[in-house]
Amino acid sequence: MKRILIIGIGAGNPDYITAQAIAALNQVDVFFLMDKGEAKQAMIALRRDICTRFIRPDRRYRFAEARSPDWSRDAGEYGTVIDGLNRDKQAVFEQLIGAELQDGQCAGILVWGDPALYDSTIRIIDSIASSGRHAIDYEVIPGISSLQALTARHRTTLNRIGRPVEITTGRRLAAGGWPADADSVFVMLDADQAFARLAGADLDIFWGAYIGTPDEILVAGRLADVADEITRKRAAARAAHGWIMDSYLLRRRDRD
Ligand SMILES: C[S@@+](CC[C@H](N)C(=O)[O-])C[C@H]1O[C@@H](n2cnc3c(N)ncnc32)[C@H](O)[C@@H]1O
Repeated sequence: MKRILIIGIGAGNPDYITAQAIAALNQVDVFFLMDKGEAKQAMIALRRDICTRFIRPDRRYRFAEARSPDWSRDAGEYGTVIDGLNRDKQAVFEQLIGAELQDGQCAGILVWGDPALYDSTIRIIDSIASSGRHAIDYEVIPGISSLQALTARHRTTLNRIGRPVEITTGRRLAAGGWPADADSVFVMLDADQAFARLAGADLDIFWGAYIGTPDEILVAGRLADVADEITRKRAAARAAHGWIMDSYLLRRRDRD
């Protein structure tokens, strides 16, 4: 049997690593890394730093790198494109499991943030396990998500007392507007600043980019007052780094 540990490493700061994740890191023989693009390079650098910092010096481990499959947001309907991407990623993982992992060994996949939040690694590994093509067993170790990192950095809560929260993507927010009956909405994967379309609504925004990293930028306030500032800072940061990862919490102001 081959073992796979899907380890949440937190969303940007190596100090987000949990004691459970450190114990898991120290069981791994080979780490699977997927490489592509400038953002991915920064993320791979964090993964290597984490291994250097948290794995005991007497442990031997190695990295097996594979190229992440190419994809484009504009190649068709979003869901279909992502399904295709995940099929391609599954093929890459199967290749790594077959070629790089011996029976009795343990592989680690270091997932940004928490593996349960907008990440397909669990789905992909589960699909490989149930295909029967490889004898694998896998475990999931939770991590600190961007959602938790953002609320902590803004010293705020995700929900108000007894109120619900919706977690969604920029694409959905842009297409559907403010979700009916929503009180707080956490938005991820927003390439086009969907919040700007809501600047007329009475909302607060808690926005953050590169949270937990030395490049972190935070802005909070009434959306109508800070939307332009966020747009400006976001464009400047994206131009400076060549990529951006940001997320935000929107909250209605007209309720206690
Ligand atoms: C594919 S999702 C992965 C989320 C991740 N599994 C998590 O737990 O946060 C990527 C999105 O997460 C958000 N994100 C992840 N890390 C972030 C960070 N350090 N700062 C701001 N947003 C972040 C961004 O919205 C980004 O587009």
